[in-house]
Amino acid sequence: MSGSAFDDVRRFATLDSTNRYLVDEARRGVPEGVVAVADHQSAGRGRLGRSWEAPPGASLLASVLVRPVLAVEHLYLCTAAVARAAADACATVAGVRPSLKWPNDLLVDGRKLAGVLAEADPDAPGGPPGSLAVVVGVGINVTWPGPPGAGGTSLLEASGHPVDREELLGALVTALGARRGELGTTGGRRRLAAEWKERCSTLGRRVRVELGTGSFEGTAVDLDEGGRLVVRTTEGIRVVQAGDVHHLREVAQGTGADDPLAPN
Ligand code: BTN
Repeated sequence: MSGSAFDDVRRFATLDSTNRYLVDEARRGVPEGVVAVADHQSAGRGRLGRSWEAPPGASLLASVLVRPVLAVEHLYLCTAAVARAAADACATVAGVRPSLKWPNDLLVDGRKLAGVLAEADPDAPGGPPGSLAVVVGVGINVTWPGPPGAGGTSLLEASGHPVDREELLGALVTALGARRGELGTTGGRRRLAAEWKERCSTLGRRVRVELGTGSFEGTAVDLDEGGRLVVRTTEGIRVVQAGDVHHLREVAQGTGADDPLAPN
């Protein structure tokens, strides 16, 4: 597995959003390997158009630019690679082993520790022929467990000891190098997809899926080739490309209540 260097680390006290910054940089044609890190974001972006907020210095807020050559259906592996790298960094620095909740959360004991957001820009110039610019951002709760009432957790809470953000960033950058290498080979992509599945705590769970058009319940049974969630319902199989998934308590089919430990 060939590693790729993320050695252009750009640090900011405040940015509106590290993802926004890197998408703009990608449009200017900067090469793969730039990492943007901010102590604070004034307009942090979350999934599905939501905002991502954290007090200054309480989280690791970082984005990376990659320019992989990938089939469209494998683009989700960019999220998988960064989520795995973030999980690796949490294990290395804090001894915490998060599970992955479909499609983009890191959980510890059912509580959200981190979120990942990938944004692709097909019009950004640069990179090898056939490549696509993808900015993947990750927010890891270090001392702050997320907004009150949201039931999240932090590395401080999960590990029981303070975690140095700079050390965490160093471990993330190292892990990203290895995971980026996996994106570039058939075997690596297979391994990434298999590990993503293996660590996905959504599989085997009763879930409620909320789509823009309504919601339904079922059992999450698989991830398909394109990283979509396959859910078995009483009406048959449904395949989910994007949406909010709530893990439900493992109770009699169809009567699951929201798991208070799985707010997202
Ligand atoms: C989610 O769970 O909704 C994804 C949240 C992703 C947040 C990170 S923080 C660093 C990067 N910059 C952003 O504006 N968002 C991502």
